[in-house]
Amino acid sequence: MLQRLLIDRIENRILVGITMFVGIMILIGWVAINEGERMRSFDNQFQARSIEFGAELFAANCTSCHGTDGRGVGNFGPALNSPLMFGHDYFATINDQIEAINRQEIELISEKDGLMQEFVNANDARREQIRARTAEIDALLTSEEGLAAQRTTVFAERDALLTQLQPAIDLGYPQPTVNEDGTVTSTFSRLAQLEWNGSLSSFVYTTLIHGRPTSKSYWENAQMVSWSQQTGGALRDDQLRNLTNYILNWDKGDAWTVEDALAVLQYPLVPVVGGGEAVAAAPPVGADVDAIVEQLATVIGDPARGDQIYNNQARSQTGARLGCGGCHLNGVAGPAHNAKWDHFLNELVNEPQFAGYSVEKYMVESIVNTGAYIVSGYAAGAMPGDFSNRMSLQDMADILAYLHTFSAVDPYVAPVAGEQPVAEATPES
Ligand code: HEC
Ligand code: HEC
Repeated sequence: MLQRLLIDRIENRILVGITMFVGIMILIGWVAINEGERMRSFDNQFQARSIEFGAELFAANCTSCHGTDGRGVGNFGPALNSPLMFGHDYFATINDQIEAINRQEIELISEKDGLMQEFVNANDARREQIRARTAEIDALLTSEEGLAAQRTTVFAERDALLTQLQPAIDLGYPQPTVNEDGTVTSTFSRLAQLEWNGSLSSFVYTTLIHGRPTSKSYWENAQMVSWSQQTGGALRDDQLRNLTNYILNWDKGDAWTVEDALAVLQYPLVPVVGGGEAVAAAPPVGADVDAIVEQLATVIGDPARGDQIYNNQARSQTGARLGCGGCHLNGVAGPAHNAKWDHFLNELVNEPQFAGYSVEKYMVESIVNTGAYIVSGYAAGAMPGDFSNRMSLQDMADILAYLHTFSAVDPYVAPVAGEQPVAEATPES
């Protein structure tokens, strides 16, 4: 009855029709509004999964040369997880401040010049005003809170930052230039260094597809090969995308710190500029374990220098970067360096294979003849086999002294210089 009443009348039909139409529009609108949110959350999940897959691929294929955390391995591959890769400019804020000070100073000085010219023909009242304003300008320029003092403060900050970054610069972070106006410029971006005009994502992805066939000529030990199945490599396109997403995920935006620059173990080499010419100061130690152990008795090891060459802060005497720390840090890619000495003394010393071995002999053998014994839990061939050619006797002594410092069983006591003759490094066959 009621239905009849409503639907039968033509006005009511129109009303019902309009109501339904509006209702449907609202429903469609609601779905459309929420679709964006739903897609975004879907995208986010997809992105997160891709990064996860990328991390696994990276651990399996890339860490031996680029390091477990992407900070590079000396001589094997450059850091990808670095402020240089993501183009962070450490001096951006300081440059802005310096430029602002310079600009204000120019404006004030030119205002003062104008006033001085006006002064000549001004009446007394105006002269009074001009005197007041020029005194004000002088204060803005030179008082204790004036521009000159502000500049001194900013320059001190700038110089402190340069000093903090110096160890990274020594390792290959681009050398900044202090300009005449006090600002600092540098090629702080890897893309700028290579004059790459595309995005970082396309840079990484393209490098993965094509590799760097020429890198063999300036990298001593490694070459970046092509990874794409399209060009004979090992990985599918979706895997290369996952790797790219994983690498881009390292970006910290504005939050890169000086510590991040210092944590890099190997910066990219720039072929033409030299990438640091290798200079040999002593012949290689060779691979004769017994002969090396015998000669070690004539050399005093310096643990501080050992620390530097082991952790890639300095080159070996043969001019090489050893990059031991890149693999041995935290025991991820190789046994942790703070446990090696005691690993032998606590565990290996009683094994028949090591009958008659001193801990020094075990260390030397582990370094120059890596295949002789493989520490359980690690793969054979993971540690490079060519260190006998890339370090001198002194380098060996220094590294052993460094590794010895971590021993709890047999703590290191520095030998007194002069008690033992320090031998010149001698050639080994
Ligand atoms: C055998 C050692 C080695 C392996 C393994 C390796 N790379 Fe490389 N990679 C290098 C070297 C060396 C370079 C530097 C090439 C150059 O300077 O032209 C490089 C460069 C790169 C670059 C460009 C970086 C730059 O600053 O120019 C990217 C990106 C990269 N590798 C990603 C990867 C990924 C991802 C993997 C794993 C799938 C991988 N690499 C595996 C040695 C290696
Ligand atoms: C590319 C990675 C890598 C680099 C670089 C590297 N190592 Fe290793 N190292 C390993 C791995 C993996 C093992 C364990 C497998 C084995 O015994 O060969 C190992 C084992 C050792 C051992 C035996 C450790 C123990 O607990 O018994 C010593 C000592 C050692 N490395 C010293 C060095 C020194 C010194 C350097 C630099 C001159 C160096 N490594 C560079 C990967 C590396």
